[in-house]
Parts: sequence; structure tokens; C-alpha cells
Amino acid sequence: MAVQEAISPGPSSLALSLLLALLYTSLESISGHSASLPPGCLTGLLRVSCQGLGLHTFPAVLPLTMEQLDLSHNHLQVLRDNAMEDRPNLRHLDLRGNRLEELSMGALLPLRWLQALILADNYLSRDYVSNSQALRLLGHLRLLDLSANLLDSDMAAFYVANLSSLWSLDLSNNLLTHLARGTFLGSPNLLDINLSDNYILQIEAGAFEGLLQLRELSLARNSLHCISDFSLRALWRLNLSSNALQLFATEEGNWGYQLQVLDLSHNQLRTVPMLSALRHLRHLNLSDNHLASLEPHAPPSPEGIGPLDQEVSRPNLAHSGSNPAASLPELADLDLSRNQLDAFPIGFLSHLSSLQRLSMAWNCLQNMSAPQPSPGLPRLPLRSLDLQGNWIQTFPSWLFEILPHLEVLDLGDNELRLFWRPEAGQDGPFQETRQPFSSAFRLKHLSLRRNRLRGLGPTQFAPAALFSLDLSGNTGLALVPSDLQGLQHSLHELSLRGNGMESTRLWLPCLWELRVLDLSGNKLANLPWTLNCSSYLRSLDLRKNLLQALDTEVLGGLGGRLGSVLIAGNPFHCCTLGWLAALASANVSVPDLEEAWCVYPDSEGGSWAPLTRDHTHLCAWWQWRGTQAGWVLLAVISLFLICCGVAALLQNSPKLPWALQLRRSWACTKREPENNQKTMGREGLGRPSLERRDPEQK
Ligand SMILES: *[C@@H]1O[C@H](CO)[C@@H](O)[C@H](O)[C@H]1NC(C)=O
Ligand SMILES: *[C@@H]1O[C@H](CO)[C@@H](O)[C@H](O)[C@H]1NC(C)=O
Ligand SMILES: *[C@@H]1O[C@H](CO)[C@@H](O)[C@H](O)[C@H]1NC(C)=O
Ligand SMILES: *[C@@H]1O[C@H](CO)[C@@H](O)[C@H](O)[C@H]1NC(C)=O
Ligand SMILES: *[C@@H]1O[C@H](CO)[C@@H](O)[C@H](O)[C@H]1NC(C)=O
Ligand SMILES: *[C@@H]1O[C@H](CO)[C@@H](O)[C@H](O)[C@H]1NC(C)=O
Ligand SMILES: *[C@@H]1O[C@H](CO)[C@@H](O)[C@H](O)[C@H]1NC(C)=O
Repeated sequence: MAVQEAISPGPSSLALSLLLALLYTSLESISGHSASLPPGCLTGLLRVSCQGLGLHTFPAVLPLTMEQLDLSHNHLQVLRDNAMEDRPNLRHLDLRGNRLEELSMGALLPLRWLQALILADNYLSRDYVSNSQALRLLGHLRLLDLSANLLDSDMAAFYVANLSSLWSLDLSNNLLTHLARGTFLGSPNLLDINLSDNYILQIEAGAFEGLLQLRELSLARNSLHCISDFSLRALWRLNLSSNALQLFATEEGNWGYQLQVLDLSHNQLRTVPMLSALRHLRHLNLSDNHLASLEPHAPPSPEGIGPLDQEVSRPNLAHSGSNPAASLPELADLDLSRNQLDAFPIGFLSHLSSLQRLSMAWNCLQNMSAPQPSPGLPRLPLRSLDLQGNWIQTFPSWLFEILPHLEVLDLGDNELRLFWRPEAGQDGPFQETRQPFSSAFRLKHLSLRRNRLRGLGPTQFAPAALFSLDLSGNTGLALVPSDLQGLQHSLHELSLRGNGMESTRLWLPCLWELRVLDLSGNKLANLPWTLNCSSYLRSLDLRKNLLQALDTEVLGGLGGRLGSVLIAGNPFHCCTLGWLAALASANVSVPDLEEAWCVYPDSEGGSWAPLTRDHTHLCAWWQWRGTQAGWVLLAVISLFLICCGVAALLQNSPKLPWALQLRRSWACTKREPENNQKTMGREGLGRPSLERRDPEQK
């Protein structure tokens, strides 16, 4: 950070540089040689970039004023002595992604004012002894990036020895296997070290000795099994993600730890470590471990065989009765996702008085219907709770009494049953579980996606609270207007995506505040007419439905705020596209217009065409064909009736013709209601032209 600040040009240095630049150019013209950078380099006032130009040598001539030089992704192999002139302004040199294997002893002498040197992704494992000598000349170096250089532990130790000015060191992506005692003794000013993506199995006691300023340390993606006496008290952030840790223990009797962020995700912990010394911890990630219980004395797991498992129950957990969470007064974020927890740990959580966000996603929770907790339980300040991917069937409303500040609740991918029909006389006990959200007065975002919900039943939502509701992926869901009762004036975002709902199974109440509605992936043949209440609607997703047209009356009620509609994947009728013009004239954008198709009526199987094509000719033809066919049909029927009449007259029987005529008209009226229904249904979609329907009656 500090390095970046030093590098970034301030206004005063800008003026100075300008002056120097002028001076430089005039000197240049005097000396007569053109200070030509390699062709293709981009030059700014203070920066030069020659990235990826296939250069084999360090540019001999460089602007004197330059502060940053980017030579990354070239073919530099060797940096030789006397290859360049002194560049006292150069602070930042990027040599990432070259083929560097040799730095001559004095090669960097002209750049001895460098503050940041990026040597990532080179071959500095060769000649490391002499190369490391070259680096020692850089007495002002703050940042050194040696990642991805095939360095083993000894080589790395050579490079960092005696770089006493260094603040930031990146050794990630190398071949380190262990850290010896005193490795960093020569660099006592280090603030952060990145050792991620190595093969570190062992850290000798005292490896970080002398690093009193160290704030950040990443040991992520190594092979550590055990941290038995963590003692870096000045550290703020420690990343131990993706190791094989079965034990993490702090040095006993040591107080004054400053650690705020501890990432222990992707390890093999079976119990929550005792972290009581880490009083300033704010963020703890225990995702993807083997936690089955949050009790300090969990029964040993049957899988636990091997020498390290004995250690697990050894040091800290010996304090009987102590809760691992007992003294983490500042913990705000706790990630317990992807473990094997099977109960909601109210006792454990009650010690975490600052907890804001908790994830218990992808665990084995199923029993959320525990009896009412004793009234003495403290109210937890939790704002966000992620419970997705469990087996939860019932969600008790008293949880909202314990969590009165809860704003975000994710219950996606569970087995939630919001209501069931109690047996006669069993009404009482289920009262609670039937209306889980009725006391969620602060809840703003609720996800119930992929719960196999068929309906919401008498689920009642606390009025004027919920802002967004996700009901997607509940195939077979049906909604009646009373279902979203209580949300008419609060709901801003609603997703019903991928529910396979037919129009008859989607009844929405007037949602006056709705902004975003996702109805994609259903079987809707027309828009719910109550949409005309949602005059603030901005974004509407109608993809993959069975819409033949959009009802401009419903859309017309949208108050002109509608910004975009997605429509692809519907069988629109090519000859009734008045709605499209209406959208265009209302300035509604249709981002996927090019992907939308329409179908011509009456052809067998339908003939499809891109929606945006000009349909006037073909539609005129269809109309003409329709009317021709209509006339032919009428003529045939008239002829038939006349024939019947003539025949009847000829037979001179008074009853038969009437019988025939009656049957004829009965047959027509029988067909009529069918057509009427169709017509009504379509009228709801946007008034298809009457002419178009004629051919269908043929
Ligand atoms: C580091 O510097 C000290 C004294 O300046 C010297 O004795 C030691 O040999 C140096 N270490 C290496 C690895 O060069
Ligand atoms: C450490 O190095 C890894 C791999 O190069 C990188 O992804 C990560 O962002 C670095 N971490 C920090 C804190 O710089
Ligand atoms: C820890 O390191 C991993 C891997 O580099 C990274 O994905 C993760 O974001 C880091 N954790 C924190 C808290 O920075
Ligand atoms: C915890 O770690 C996992 C895995 O690295 C990551 O996906 C998750 O986002 C982290 N949680 C938090 C709250 O940062
Ligand atoms: C659910 O929890 C209650 C109370 O803790 C317990 O009595 C009951 O046996 C549990 N049910 C299941 C299926 O675990
Ligand atoms: C919405 O449409 C219905 C039926 O077409 C109508 O009765 C109602 O008044 C309309 N509401 C608004 C707000 O336009
Ligand atoms: C649509 O946008 C154009 C240009 O931005 C503007 O002149 C016109 O008034 C807008 N029409 C409507 C109905 O908002």
C-alpha cells in the first residue's frame, strides 16, 4: 500500500517531471542521438510500457523522468552490468513473465532507487546465489515479487536474506517445503508475506522470528497439518485456507493478539479450535472442514485414525466446559458452511455478541423445530443468515424473536414445508410452523428457491418489510392472490423463474412497489393482469414462456417506467406484433430482440421466423389465403343447405328439413363456445386480428 502511494505521482512531482522532461528532450537534441525506445512502447509522462513486445534486451535508452517501467512478458534472459544509465526516478519495475535467469552483480546498480521490483514468473532458481547478491544493492526496495520462479526453501532463504528495507514479499507459487528458523531475520521490516501455493509441510519454531511488524501472512494452499503454537501477536490477517489442518492452537498464556481475519477454510478440522486468545477476531472462516458439532467436547469422529488426531483433543480443549466462542466479542463474520453440522447452535452463538453474518450453508441441518427457547436467551444481532443447502423442513418463527435484526435469510435448496394440513384436532401444535415469517418484521431479503414448494398456503408475511423474494426453481408452484398478502406495499423484487407455472396457477396481488420481476421459464400464455398495478416496474423477464403476444393494456399500465423486457423463447405470432411497436414507442428496451422468434399462424407445425424481420408481405398473404378459404367454406355450406332444402321440398315431408337444419345449427353453436374461449384468451394477449382467425376455422 505504502509502496503504491510512493509510486503514484503527486501534483508537485508532476510539475517537476514536466520540467525534467523538457530538459531531457533539449539535452537529447544537443547530444544528437535520438532516445528511441523500442518500437511499440507506450510512453506517458511518468510511465513507459513495453509490455509483450518480444524484447530480448533491456532498453538502453530510457526517459530520465520515468517513474514506472513495464517490461513484462518479453524475452529478457540476462540483465548485464552497464546495460543502462542511472535512473534515479525509476521506482517501479515490472519484469513479470520474462525468461530471466541471470542478474549480473551490478546489473541493478543504476536502478538502486527502485522501490518495487516484480520478478514473478521467471527462472530465478538458476544462479540464485549470485542473483540474490544483485538484489542486495537495492537499498530502497519495499516490494519484491518472486512468485512462480521454481524456488525451493533454500533458494528463497537466500533471496530474502539481508533485504532489510523490504515491506512486502511475495513468494507464492514456488516449491517451498519448509520454513527454517530465522528465514526472515534479515528482513525485519516485513509487513506482509505471501507464501500461498507452495508445498510447505513444516514451519520450524521461530521461522517468523523478529518480524515484529508483520500484519499479513498467507499460507493458503500448502500442506500444513498442524499449527500447534501460533504466536504472531502483531498479525492482522492470517490465511491458512486449503491446507490439511487438523489442529490450530494458539500459544498458551499469550494475550494481546491483534488477529482480525483468520481463514481456516478447506481444512480437516473436526472441532472448532479454541480461539479465546484472539479477542479481536472479526472474520473467521471455517468453511469446508469436518465439523460435526460446535460443542467443545465433540465425540471423536470414527474416521479419526492417525497420529495427528490424538493431538486434536490435546491442548486447548482440555479446559473443560469452556466454549470455543466464549470470548470472541468482536467476531462479526462467521462462515461455517460446508461442514456436517446437524443442529442450529443457539448456545454457541449466544456468546457471539457482535455477530452480523453467519453462514451455515450446505450442512446437515434438519431439525429447526426445537421447542420454544427459554425466555432468558439473549437476542443476537445477526443481520444475515445463510441456511441454503440443508434439509430444513420447518422453520420456527421464534427464531426471528432471537434474531430480531435479521434482514437477509437464504433458505434456498432445502425441503421447506410452509404448511401442511394437520389432522383433525391437531391444529394447535402446528400453528407455529405454519406462519414462519409472520414475525420477521425486519426481514428484507428472503430466498426460498428450489424447495419443491407447491404453494405458500397460509404463509403470512410480516407487513411492509420484505424487499426481495426469490421463489425460483420450485417446479409446480401455484400462487393465489392471498399468498403474497402483506407484501403489496413492500416487495421490490420477485423471482418466479423456472417454476413451470401456467397462467392459471399464477395469481399475484397488486404489488404496488414492484421494480424487478422475473417470470422466465414458466408456461405463461398471458401476463398476470395485476401487473398493471406495478407502475414502478423497471425490469421484466418473460423469457421461455408460451406468450403469443404481450397485452399492451397490462403493459400500458406500467406508467412508462419500464426500462427493459426480455422476451426470447416465446411463440409469438408474427402477424400480431402491435405490442412490439407499443414497447418501442414507450422507449422500452428489448435487449434480446434479435434472439426472439415468431410463428406464422395456421401452417402445420408453424413456420418460424426471426421476430425482427419484416412480416407485412407474408402476413398479407396469410390474410388473403384466410379470406379465400372462408369464402370457399361459406359457399360449400350454402350449397349444401340449398341442396338439403331442395331435397326436402322434393320429398314433400315437412319434418325432415327442420331436423336437418336444427342439427346443423347445433353443430355450429357447439363449436362456437370453443372459439369464443380461444378468442377471449387471446384478446387478453393483445387482440389478434380477426382476419387471422378465419383460416383456422377452415
Ligand atoms: C547479511 O549481512 C550480514 C552483515 O551485513 C553478513 O554477515 C551476512 O553474511 C549476510 N548474509 C548473506 C546471506 O549474505
Ligand atoms: C498471494 O499469491 C497468490 C498467488 O500468486 C495470489 O492469488 C494472492 O492474491 C496473493 N495474496 C495476496 C494477499 O497478495
Ligand atoms: C485466502 O486465500 C485463498 C486462496 O488464495 C483466497 O481465495 C481467499 O480469499 C483468502 N482469504 C482471505 C480471507 O483473504
Ligand atoms: C470462506 O471460504 C470459502 C472457501 O474459500 C469461500 O468460498 C467463502 O466465500 C469464505 N467466506 C467468507 C465469509 O469470506
Ligand atoms: C428435534 O429436536 C427435538 C428437540 O431438540 C428432539 O426432541 C427431536 O427428537 C428432534 N427430532 C429429530 C428428527 O431429530
Ligand atoms: C388494471 O386492470 C384491471 C382490469 O383490466 C382494471 O380493473 C384495473 O382498474 C386496472 N388497474 C390499474 C391500476 O390500472
Ligand atoms: C423516447 O425517447 C425519445 C428520445 O430519447 C424522446 O424524445 C421521447 O419523448 C421518448 N418517449 C417516451 C414515450 O418516453
